[in-house]
Amino acid sequence: MEKGEDKHEEEQDQVVNPWEVTAKDGGKIDYDKLIDKFGCQRLEEPLVDRVQRLTGRPPHVFLRRGVFFAHRDFDEILNAYEKGKKFYLYTGRGPSSEALHLGHLVPFMFTKYLQDAFKVPLVIQLTDDEKCMWKNLSVEECQRLARENAKDIIACGFDITKTFIFSDFDYVGGSFYKNMVRIAKCVTYNKVSFLEAFSVLYTSGDFTFAVVQAAPSFPSSFPHLFSGKDDLRCLIPCAIDQDPYFRMTRDVAPRLGYHKPSLIESSFFPALQGETGKMSASDPNSAIYVTDSAKVIKNKINKYAFSGGQDSVEKHRELGANLEVDIPVKYLSFFLEDDAELEHIKTEYGAGRMLTGEVKKRLADVLTEVVDRHRAARAAVTEEMVDAFMAVRPLPNMFD
Ligand code: TYM
Ligand code: TRP
Repeated sequence: MEKGEDKHEEEQDQVVNPWEVTAKDGGKIDYDKLIDKFGCQRLEEPLVDRVQRLTGRPPHVFLRRGVFFAHRDFDEILNAYEKGKKFYLYTGRGPSSEALHLGHLVPFMFTKYLQDAFKVPLVIQLTDDEKCMWKNLSVEECQRLARENAKDIIACGFDITKTFIFSDFDYVGGSFYKNMVRIAKCVTYNKVSFLEAFSVLYTSGDFTFAVVQAAPSFPSSFPHLFSGKDDLRCLIPCAIDQDPYFRMTRDVAPRLGYHKPSLIESSFFPALQGETGKMSASDPNSAIYVTDSAKVIKNKINKYAFSGGQDSVEKHRELGANLEVDIPVKYLSFFLEDDAELEHIKTEYGAGRMLTGEVKKRLADVLTEVVDRHRAARAAVTEEMVDAFMAVRPLPNMFD
């Protein structure tokens, strides 16, 4: 096993895995501890500077502000790239709800930037099988949700000449399935049980799904794209909850003759209620969806967004806001791109000269703009475009 085997839950003060994200006793998720526990590397400034040098583009706001804060062998991807060796990107989504929330957009917006900056191909896995096994959803419903989610993903602006989107139900078979079996042979029950939630194994699907998510990390799972390129490296952008799947994948990669996939991992866009959990589709009041209207966004922020402001104006003017726990400021740090304005808000609000209501209003405007832009882009995505992105086809210009 790679460093980072999970301990038993009793010993844990926070739980972060593909199924659950909770901090201890209403506290915040401790990302430094997570890096130590998982055994990944911190994404520090010299790497961010290197991305800028190699791509000739300013780093994405999620890189600049440390939203993507951890990695595994991202430096190796850059070393190879510097020598002219490109890589491919792999990310995914488990369709469990009709609409995506803002947290889901984080890895996709960032992946779009990586694709544009490095000019590399991208495969996107829609794990319609995953959520069908784990939620009370039929096969048909999951397939429908996957297609709906594909529209939201396409709306993020991916380049059709470099992007292949696939649903597990439609694509798994052939070379992909052969890789699943090769991986499965390397993964004993003991190894898969490191996905700590497997201490509560529900169905045989829980046990086997990990290899479905692992297979796209190997280029030979996509013969129409990467035939004869077994040496191609893979970079996976995702939030850190997905790390357990890829620890297992990295463990088996050398035994199958592949590079270990590299990872670039984000923190969570938190729930409206505070940084003890991630924004999650299972609790609609914790999340802002890409389908929410300006009015709904405003109401959710006013009603639910946890504020670090004081309970009375007098006290607030005197003490200022506690920015450490303030959700509106946290959200602005993801989506307000203007560094100067963000600093100004932090200073003024922290000193009590700006009130919570003003910050919330600015946030509602910023998020409404993001959501409106997304909605317009999604409305332009046709069924034909979905078919085109999902067609099993070669991408002759994918490295240009
Ligand atoms: P899913 O559908 O739960 O989430 C899709 C992606 O969004 C990330 N994410 C978040 N990021 C920031 N803040 C949040 N609040 C938040 N909530 C979710 C997830 O980490 C993920 O990157 N099993 C996967 C699907 C999958 C996948 C992959 C993901 C298959 N292959 C490869 C990443 C990479 C899933 O159910 O994701
Ligand atoms: N039902 C959980 C969800 O999707 C995921 C899950 C799958 C799970 N297998 C599990 C949780 C085993 C606990 C144990 O949110």
